[in-house]
Amino acid sequence: MKLFRVVVVLLAVSTAMPVLNAFEKQPASVYHGRRVALGAKLHGGVAVLFAAREPLRDFMPYRQDEDFYYLTGWTEPGAALVVVADAPQATPPRMYREILFLPTRNLRMEKYTGEKLDAASPGVEKAAGVDAVKAMTELPTVLNELMGANRSLMYNIWTQPESAQAKALLGFTAVTLGGDSAPAGHDVTGPTAQLRVVKDEGEIELLKKASTASIEAQRVMMRAVKPGATELAVAGKMTAAWMENGCERPSYAPIVGSGINSTTLHYDANSRTMEDGDLVVVDAACEYSMYASDITRTVPANRQFTARQREIYDIVLGAQQAAVDAFVAGKSKINDRDRHDPDSLDNAAYNYINTHGKSLDGKPLGQYWLHGLGHMLGINVHDPVEVYPAVLKPGMVFTIEPGIYIPEEKLGVRIECDFLVGADGKLIDLDGALPHTAEAVEAAMREK
Ligand code: GLY
Ligand code: MN
Repeated sequence: MKLFRVVVVLLAVSTAMPVLNAFEKQPASVYHGRRVALGAKLHGGVAVLFAAREPLRDFMPYRQDEDFYYLTGWTEPGAALVVVADAPQATPPRMYREILFLPTRNLRMEKYTGEKLDAASPGVEKAAGVDAVKAMTELPTVLNELMGANRSLMYNIWTQPESAQAKALLGFTAVTLGGDSAPAGHDVTGPTAQLRVVKDEGEIELLKKASTASIEAQRVMMRAVKPGATELAVAGKMTAAWMENGCERPSYAPIVGSGINSTTLHYDANSRTMEDGDLVVVDAACEYSMYASDITRTVPANRQFTARQREIYDIVLGAQQAAVDAFVAGKSKINDRDRHDPDSLDNAAYNYINTHGKSLDGKPLGQYWLHGLGHMLGINVHDPVEVYPAVLKPGMVFTIEPGIYIPEEKLGVRIECDFLVGADGKLIDLDGALPHTAEAVEAAMREK
């Protein structure tokens, strides 16, 4: 329902504007390198990953499975990838192999959703950039041959744990080899999470482009917010700006929460009209060629913070800065749920909030911060980490997003920026070009 409404708003505000569709892929060698790196993590086993399926209702949005995209750059639905790890000691020895299996074309469906490639399409190997491309109908046979040659391989298969296709395939393989039950399979998302957590240069460029477009949309928001504006119209204007700047969709449902809604952490009904004196939390950003940005700014509806709003705003900004100041590459972690770990940036930000300002009844403000400090960012807005909380190292990208939410004052503030750990171990604020201070926010809201 919500997504449908976002699409309607988007269509309403974007019809008159030029739309740039700039889906960018990295060179084929990059995806190949990732597959080889995955192979090295399989302990001589075989990985079988499935692409996302086309939605049953063809007009619903489709997004590629994240690990599948990371390993192939392939955007079409219904494919499968097999990676056979190098296992020279195995009997018989196995050499590294990679095969992309493409589904049989569904010509009737293509009338609705457009033409697709299959294993017989001219130039498909080049388009795929994978060593071998085969028809999906061959997948059971290929797997069967591998398992038949060495049955212990049945216990070294790596798949997506939630994949119905993987379960069916493993069941079929077991049955055709005379086994009783399907092997459980190891969770391939563990090793892919290990690979995804450190971003390469091309990924960092895509993340920067997502940030740039999201910053532009946040600036549009700052000019659009005013008493009488609706939360939904502001979300719509941001959506138009994302698409004008080459993004394909929001990275998550946009949050535009004014007044009391500013205190609901993931409010996304966006159904209220802004009033004079409101604060507005705007947690909204977009995805550029599958890579997410995640930005929150908090602004006064009437373009001027009250003294109390500014006091709380400055404390949240101070908490973000405290986390940045505490950062040490190779040592710091983002979150510590118990807030006891001295290496946790969350701890530094929480201590700042709890020692600055007071609630109306004189209590420290720590109790008004209800969530963790941040998360990893990448193909998913909450990118996976295998070990949580991860020690932050060069090439990692994560958010720092402290907040204070005081419902009795109808006052919520969150400030969220995306940070890259640079090669020198220093933090780079990917949203550095967007106003951070209360003064800079007010000035941006006055711009025409
Ligand atoms: N910006 C949404 C989230 O981080 O959960
Ligand atoms: Mn976030």
